[in-house]
Amino acid sequence: MSEDVAVNESRWRVPLSDIAVDDELVDAVLETIRSGWWSMGPQVAEFEREFAAFTDAHHAIAVANGSAALHLALLAVGCGSEDEVIVPSLNFVAAANSIVHTGAKPVFCDVGGHDDLNLDPGDVERAVSPRTKAIIVLHYSGVPCAFDDIAEIADRHRLTIVEDAAHAPGASLNGRMCGTLGRVGCFSFFSNKNLPVGEGGMILTGDDELAEQLRLLRSHGMTTLTWDRHRGHASSYDVVLPGFNYRLDEVRAVLGMVQLRRLPEENEARGRIVARYREALDGAQGLTMPFGGDVEGRVSSHHLAVVVLPDGTDRSEVRAALDADGIQTSVHYPPIHTFTLYRKTHQRNLPRTDAIAERILTLPLYGRMADEQVDVVIGTLLSAI
Ligand SMILES: Cc1ncc(COP(=O)(O)O)c(C=O)c1O
Repeated sequence: MSEDVAVNESRWRVPLSDIAVDDELVDAVLETIRSGWWSMGPQVAEFEREFAAFTDAHHAIAVANGSAALHLALLAVGCGSEDEVIVPSLNFVAAANSIVHTGAKPVFCDVGGHDDLNLDPGDVERAVSPRTKAIIVLHYSGVPCAFDDIAEIADRHRLTIVEDAAHAPGASLNGRMCGTLGRVGCFSFFSNKNLPVGEGGMILTGDDELAEQLRLLRSHGMTTLTWDRHRGHASSYDVVLPGFNYRLDEVRAVLGMVQLRRLPEENEARGRIVARYREALDGAQGLTMPFGGDVEGRVSSHHLAVVVLPDGTDRSEVRAALDADGIQTSVHYPPIHTFTLYRKTHQRNLPRTDAIAERILTLPLYGRMADEQVDVVIGTLLSAI
């Protein structure tokens, strides 16, 4: 990687996440700007090809962001006003909002426990009703979920699985990349993700017809693109369904290609940092670090470093102590069923999500985090609890 040309200027001694900005990224952007073609065109097409090759997917469809990816995926698999979609409550709200935008109803499900923050297949089974159309699975923090168990339930009830793989580029289960396990997989390239471009997303599918639908939905249902017309490959277009402008632009596509080449190294570096955290924190002073122990065939992308604080700990006090030391923390996530919008309609008991909701804490994690920074976080956290 070439030398940094900028640093993340902030008040944090250890920020939650951090983007490396260097000449390679800046040059790639400048070259694209100088090309004079900024909207969806050849760079987006190349990014799609490279992402498809990396994940071994048949189709990769670049979109404006991860929320757009989820919205289009749910529409393309046919979710609508009569339907319910099962989704983990311990997730970013984009998944639930996307379900609502299709007219369907989110049905929130529980996690496995304080050591397993992925969907509990047993609770998925209990949540299935005659109206269930699809299941959104999340690979929480980059750890692949219990996909085979959930797929068995989905097969039995003829449900579609949509993967929210926002945390999981490069993660895999039994040799298959996350995002290619379900019928559709959705990625986010938001600034704090393992593959950051600012705002961006990608949809994967192995289904030709679905891919065609997704491409149409991405660009107002138009049968040709401005790029095709610019090249003289088309002079007009038809509109065959009411789509959206969820296109990605060329500048972010070239950022995506540079970041994609760096992803394996980034994920590995994150893995080393998570191992350092785990060694010092898991089991120390009543702390737990979820997803302990290697599970054969499960490769994480190490998107988040999450700890579960001892029962009864005042999390805001712990966060204040870390903050006072210049350490930024976060919470992934306030459970969706507790938000005002969703509390009104939510009807299920989620005892394990409720039990950890006030105890989870996300620690800083990014590939180029120095060991000394990790140790500062560990030391401050241990003295704060
Ligand atoms: C798990 C999860 N799903 C979906 C999204 C939505 O992605 P975006 O912010 O790119 O719309 C995010 C990212 O913020 C996320 O973390």
